[in-house]
Amino acid sequence: LGEMEQSIMVNSPIVIGHRGAAGEAPENTLASFRLAAEQGSHMVELDIHMSEDGKLIVCHDDTLDRTTDISGAIRSLHSDVIREADAGSWFSPSFAGERVPFLEEVYDLLPEHIEINVEVKDSGGALFDEVLLNYLRGNNRIDRTVVSSFDHKLLLRLKQAEPELRIGLLYAADLIHHASYAALLETEVWSLHPHHGLIGACDAEDAVAAGLHIYPYTANRSADWDRLLSIGVTGIITDYPGRLKGHLSRL
Ligand code: G3P
Ligand code: CA
Repeated sequence: LGEMEQSIMVNSPIVIGHRGAAGEAPENTLASFRLAAEQGSHMVELDIHMSEDGKLIVCHDDTLDRTTDISGAIRSLHSDVIREADAGSWFSPSFAGERVPFLEEVYDLLPEHIEINVEVKDSGGALFDEVLLNYLRGNNRIDRTVVSSFDHKLLLRLKQAEPELRIGLLYAADLIHHASYAALLETEVWSLHPHHGLIGACDAEDAVAAGLHIYPYTANRSADWDRLLSIGVTGIITDYPGRLKGHLSRL
């Protein structure tokens, strides 16, 4: 085997379905998570916000405008209103009637062996932390969860409040040395989630040597998958978990 193939065989990254299987189903809906699970994802990524009445709502944007048939900011809407929205038709008429899920519905839907990467988009501060941690603790969801965010202060807060929680640093920056950045935070970090184009081989090697997982986002093309495989990432976030699984099985 050549060096590239050997590296690919040794490093078998986990498949992380982005917003479920967002390339083939309306993002962040139960249909999308179901498809990601059927396609063999090891983990699914999703985004959360809090509604006006304190419910954890799965949606990428801070408004419903792009992905549903109603508009408005999630933090200003009651969950009863959010639940009326159709979150499937914008993607395809065949998904009409899909709802904007509550976080708990995704956990309830997916088999226990599928881990959940909860990306916190808009924390709303201490109240949000409490609502999220209460849900995860009260339902034995801590072990199955990696919480990620571009807001690293928020992650530090959550980690301090719940030391068992796995946290993942999301960033789009071209860092000088990725593993060193994680070390600067002086807390246990589970994973790095860099933009997939911004991490190189030495960085990946050093991060793995430091005990970090590396889950770059969001790689959808086979050429990008091959590069990530060759540098030894431990997971790949993709809109096409089925295609990535197929790609890995052909190596
Ligand atoms: O969590 C990885 C990725 O989803 C971060 O970017 O904008 O797709 O949430 P975005
Ligand atoms: Ca996300």
